[in-house]
Amino acid sequence: MYPMPDSASAKHMSAVTVAVPATTANLGSGFDAVGMALELENCFTVDLSASDFSVEVAGEGAESISRGRDNLFFTAMEQVYRVKGMALPPCSLSIKNCVPTGRGLGSSATAIVGGLTAANHLLGDFLEPSALIDLAAGMEGHPDNVAPAVLGGVVIATGGSQGHFHVLQLPHPAELEAIVAVPDFELPTSRARSVLPHSVPFSDAVFNGSRAALLGAVLATRQWELLHAAMEDRLHQNYRQKLVPGLSEVFAAARAAGALGVAISGAGPAIVALATGGSARIGEAMKAAFASAGVDSRILLTLPATAGAHIIGEGVFHEDHRSEVWR
Ligand code: HSE
Repeated sequence: MYPMPDSASAKHMSAVTVAVPATTANLGSGFDAVGMALELENCFTVDLSASDFSVEVAGEGAESISRGRDNLFFTAMEQVYRVKGMALPPCSLSIKNCVPTGRGLGSSATAIVGGLTAANHLLGDFLEPSALIDLAAGMEGHPDNVAPAVLGGVVIATGGSQGHFHVLQLPHPAELEAIVAVPDFELPTSRARSVLPHSVPFSDAVFNGSRAALLGAVLATRQWELLHAAMEDRLHQNYRQKLVPGLSEVFAAARAAGALGVAISGAGPAIVALATGGSARIGEAMKAAFASAGVDSRILLTLPATAGAHIIGEGVFHEDHRSEVWR
């Protein structure tokens, strides 16, 4: 058993609100390694003054999010408390969910990164962002959503040794716009990964290795005219195509409308196009292409987010006058 937090300390924080961005992972060739934070956030308020675990959810996918102690946010908080050698005390969680769930926009990564960030803040920010990424990637199984969710911007992250990930944040691609077509159905990541092969032809591995190298260089040097070639992929999207009706039509429509590059967002089924202008036109073209395949979709016109997970409010409990102070 871990000890409970020291309630006798003169002053400790009892509540905190954290905002965590949506993310689009892979960007085509950068499978399980490259991700971009988007300007769309989930907000989580956790309050340690509660006597039992509880969860309230408003917004996107509210009905599908666990109200119990098994909510990913609590599991993530527990990891940080465990590193500190403490047990997670009962807490109430209130979620304002803006990131569509089950669409490939890093919704579960927001809960994981939110829980880690909130717990770390409540315990004095003793863990560095790199340690939060290691914990988050360990929970998620791959680092490409959680790393940009922690740091913001565009991040390349790959598995290292002993649970430590190699993480590199690239210069912020301020001129890029992200257009996301979000179909009206969910696709569990487990299902999208179940259709991937155990091995691929050597030529496909070479194809992706070279494109992923190019993707890193294009993102670092902003030579956007090479973005389409850099995002080409033969490792996952062709296998996932059967799970996303209209996929090739949406890709073609986005390109024809002026997108610089287009890919399945994360494990899908959302599709992300990147451009340096003409977002509305590209979005309309993607929506029409989905519709022609019988799929209803919403279009999200957004930007790469500079901010990763960040604290937007603190409740500080002062033992001496027992009041909550929010700022
Ligand atoms: N890289 C992962 C995949 C992202 O494509 O399966 C899942 O969120």
